[in-house]
Amino acid sequence: MKIKIKNICCIGAGYVGGPTMAVIADNCHNVEINVVDLDRERIDRWNSKDLSRLPVYEPGLAEIIERRRGKNLNFSSSVEEKIKIADAIFISVNTPTKKKGLGAGKASDLKWIEACTRQVAANSEGHTIVIEKSTIPVRTANVIKSILESSEFLNDENSNKTFSVLSNPEFLAEGTAINDLLNPDRILIGGDNYEDIESLKDIYANWVPNHLIISTNVWSSELSKLSANAFLAQRISSINSISALCEKTGADVEEVSLAIGLDTRIGSKFLKAGPGFGGSCFKKDILNVIYLCEYFGLHEVAEFWESVIKLNNWQTNRITKLVTRKLFGTLSNKKISILGFAFKANTNDTRESAAIQICKNLINEGAILLIHDPKVNGEQIALDLNNEEFDINKSEIGSEGTWIKVNDIYDSFVDSDASIILTEWEEYLNINWDKVSNLMRKPAWVFDTRSMIDKKNFDNLDLNLWVVGKG
Ligand code: UDX
Ligand code: ADP
Repeated sequence: MKIKIKNICCIGAGYVGGPTMAVIADNCHNVEINVVDLDRERIDRWNSKDLSRLPVYEPGLAEIIERRRGKNLNFSSSVEEKIKIADAIFISVNTPTKKKGLGAGKASDLKWIEACTRQVAANSEGHTIVIEKSTIPVRTANVIKSILESSEFLNDENSNKTFSVLSNPEFLAEGTAINDLLNPDRILIGGDNYEDIESLKDIYANWVPNHLIISTNVWSSELSKLSANAFLAQRISSINSISALCEKTGADVEEVSLAIGLDTRIGSKFLKAGPGFGGSCFKKDILNVIYLCEYFGLHEVAEFWESVIKLNNWQTNRITKLVTRKLFGTLSNKKISILGFAFKANTNDTRESAAIQICKNLINEGAILLIHDPKVNGEQIALDLNNEEFDINKSEIGSEGTWIKVNDIYDSFVDSDASIILTEWEEYLNINWDKVSNLMRKPAWVFDTRSMIDKKNFDNLDLNLWVVGKG
């Protein structure tokens, strides 16, 4: 029998769970939504009156939180209590790459998925639709299913528990999450319980046209998510490889992107050269594909996807080498302004950001970095670069191989030998380079890894410019 979903619990209040549930709440006022997380501080921040403290920054998110929080959208750490009353449970916990043991460096660590599935098994009541939302390796539904089915609670003859497991991967991109959720290219639901698929479809049908809601078997759904990310990442490695060739030949990568993108078979999106892709999904998902291929003996396929990651690492590292070469082969005690630390604009997320590797490389070379980012705070940068708590004393310029966070873009240029644009924040489009030219030590270099600067504007300035894919 098809049930009407009236109460949703989302386990995991992160970059996926938070925005996704906010949009569902905004479009389904009759559905009560509880977003739960073990991390109390994170929940406190979701409940914060000061909306600038929300743990996830996404354009448009704060407005929805303000509209729905306390009405049909609640954030809490009472995981068990909220599981109990839910008809449908979204699993949106983290699934990072395993650091040790079997499959280390490639397979996803499913310990958080396993832990929360056990909580669902123990605490749910009646029929519960369990929906995998996190990016997960293929066949995770099987893991969830076997934990639920072997649950001691299910074997209790007084138990009224039943479950079905659906895969409903999230395709949102950070920075545009709200728009992606409101206007998805498609909603994919994988599973074999027809009625439960229909129940979940009814939720999305509140704002997504029916023809965009498709259902497949559970494995196709899981593999589609990994494949979509692998294809997108592969396009970026392709254009980054061409950017290096452009620099050697005198071609302009933006002109090449435009020309090839007009071919409708290729399409114009995801053809922007940069410092290498970051974010929590691309690398992790390709590693998952590689792990699967190796597991099934498809070594050539594994190598093909491995080359996408290899090219990405190469692109990131070649930027440090280039900067070092242009600054006469040594960065020792030279100040370098870093513009942008997030892995892309409009997010405060730094996971796998190319900026982390580039900054570490520069610090290793002895540079002193003045890092600016409008949304990433010093605490996060300290964790990423030094794996330590933020030291407030780090607000003054230190010695060779150190960094500070600056709040004013122009402070980063004072006496700097170079500036590197690493994230495409809109405010970097409005930098007054004439003013900058007076602040930097000469000869000064600007390295634009995001193609934001129009070379013509630099013609009359005493600044050397390098732009990715243009030389
Ligand atoms: C990605 C997928 O786009 C999304 O569908 C999936 O659900 C999660 O993974 P996300 O990682 O948030 O989303 O951001 P995305 O916009 O895909 O960018 C990933 C990285 O690629 C960023 O570092 C970005 O700067 C880089 N990129 C993107 C490029 O270098 N060039 C491009 O043309 C596009
Ligand atoms: P994503 O980008 O996939 O959303 P995040 O790391 O931002 O990943 O968020 C995942 C969240 O899931 C974290 O806040 C983490 O505390 C939470 N989490 C992990 N395991 C559990 C669990 N068993 N119960 C509740 N929350 C959990």
